[in-house]
Amino acid sequence: MRTPGDIDFSRRGVLAGGASVAAVTALPTRAAAAPGETAAAAPPTAAVAFKVNGTAHKLELDTRTSLLDALREHLHLTGTKKGCDHGQCGACTVLVDGRRINSCLTLAVMHDGENITTIEGLGTPDKMHPMQDAFVERDGYQCGYCTPGQICSAVAVLEEIKAGIPSHVTADLTATPKVTASELRERMSGNICRCGAYSNIIDAITDVAGGKA
Ligand code: FES
Ligand code: FES
Repeated sequence: MRTPGDIDFSRRGVLAGGASVAAVTALPTRAAAAPGETAAAAPPTAAVAFKVNGTAHKLELDTRTSLLDALREHLHLTGTKKGCDHGQCGACTVLVDGRRINSCLTLAVMHDGENITTIEGLGTPDKMHPMQDAFVERDGYQCGYCTPGQICSAVAVLEEIKAGIPSHVTADLTATPKVTASELRERMSGNICRCGAYSNIIDAITDVAGGKA
């Protein structure tokens, strides 16, 4: 026989949310802070100063803030995109002192004193960077979500090749890298395009490199 304390977990009740309400109300409430217990401490913060697209910024940030979140949420530079937030897609690629990095994988406070370039710093709609121009000319995008990361990465790739930094495309890692389609595909492999604009992206980068692929 049922007692008044029984809970009716009928299908109708569950679908209507009755069971969850009953379950929640049945849970013991968390005890108030015991005498001597302190409230949760505020997360640690730290000051960081860096230049973004030539402008100096000083921020006081939760030390766990990624560079990506600092750019998007604190400086409102939303051109840099958050795709996976796990270092897997390249949508968040920015240049730090000329080197490309996934901004979701690095903490903002690690970049004190550094120069950061985002897609907004490469060019403007009126005065585009040659790589931006080439992406437009070659239709190097469809939805455009990956494009800021692709363009930042592509700019750095040509600098890497110019500097003679090898990739794994050539068996001989001491060989001087050349602008070839396979070299570009390898170096751009960290930038995923869900629309599959890869061929046009390679054409755009090749154009900027002087058409050598
Ligand atoms: Fe950073 Fe995907 S958002 S790699
Ligand atoms: Fe849509 Fe690349 S253009 S994800």
